[in-house]
Amino acid sequence: PEDMLFSYRDILFPASVSSPETLEALKSFEARSDDVILVGYPKSGTNWLEQMVQELADAKYTEEERKERINAEKKVETFQRLEFGDPGIYERMKKLPSRRIIVTHLTPQLLPPSIFQSKILVLVRNPKDTAVSYYHFYNNLTLLPSFASWDEYFPDFMNGKLAWGSYFDHLVEWNKYIDNERIMTISYEELKEDQVQGMKKIAAFFGFSLCEEDFLRIAKKTSFKAMKEKSSETHGKFGDVLFRKGVVGSWKDLFSEAQNEEMYRKFEDTLGGTKMAAKIKY
Ligand code: PPS
Repeated sequence: PEDMLFSYRDILFPASVSSPETLEALKSFEARSDDVILVGYPKSGTNWLEQMVQELADAKYTEEERKERINAEKKVETFQRLEFGDPGIYERMKKLPSRRIIVTHLTPQLLPPSIFQSKILVLVRNPKDTAVSYYHFYNNLTLLPSFASWDEYFPDFMNGKLAWGSYFDHLVEWNKYIDNERIMTISYEELKEDQVQGMKKIAAFFGFSLCEEDFLRIAKKTSFKAMKEKSSETHGKFGDVLFRKGVVGSWKDLFSEAQNEEMYRKFEDTLGGTKMAAKIKY
């Protein structure tokens, strides 16, 4: 289990999908002004957002044009996340036609400054559900170490000793850019509450034009149930682990009262009073 993770600039990463060389090579990645960049700490609903944005961006294309785009991506062998793959990936990504949709779990310090030329959508999820989701993910994925119990895992979440580091640091770092007009923040909870409304905000931000029916169609296609049903096609075996519950509030199954209080204090200490905190309901 020791070598399942490696440390890069004091942050842990899964050795199965990335390497220090890739993270180093990421400095050479050149973002374009029309790139769509999606950011989220692990388990905040990244795959859901990615699917949604892909659909929103593609709505105006024919089936044929969509296939062409997917084929172009396959040729270049891009992976699900910007920080995945071999160090040569950033050179190959130059060949991808615009508009590229780029997904990452990283904070700005590990990304090249050129990303600020693109529009960036930051997805956030309440810390308790994120922690629970990540716990199950760690224990169900053979590529990550396992924990004997929730109580053994909890301090590691609180101290950022997990892949991609600390949930709190992630939000503190992105909060520094929250007033940048090329950055928008959206929460998992607001998307769960009213997905069509959330997608309208996203479309307006990126400048996608869609009609009412498009939004309804996409909401249906990207519902938890629909995505779970298609998961073996879209995500292979990984799908079984990824599409777990897809609800708000599953923290209640695992948190003790003391852990609930500890989380509240940590959140207030690190993010209390920030614009980012105002985005997160829990
Ligand atoms: S990863 O591996 O870090 O990229 O995971 P990520 O995609 O960010 O987060 C996984 C959680 O998102 C839930 N999910 C969804 N919720 C609602 N609707 C849809 N369509 C959807 N798709 C994925 C997924 O179930 C994980 O949350 P939990 O709480 O574990 O169910």
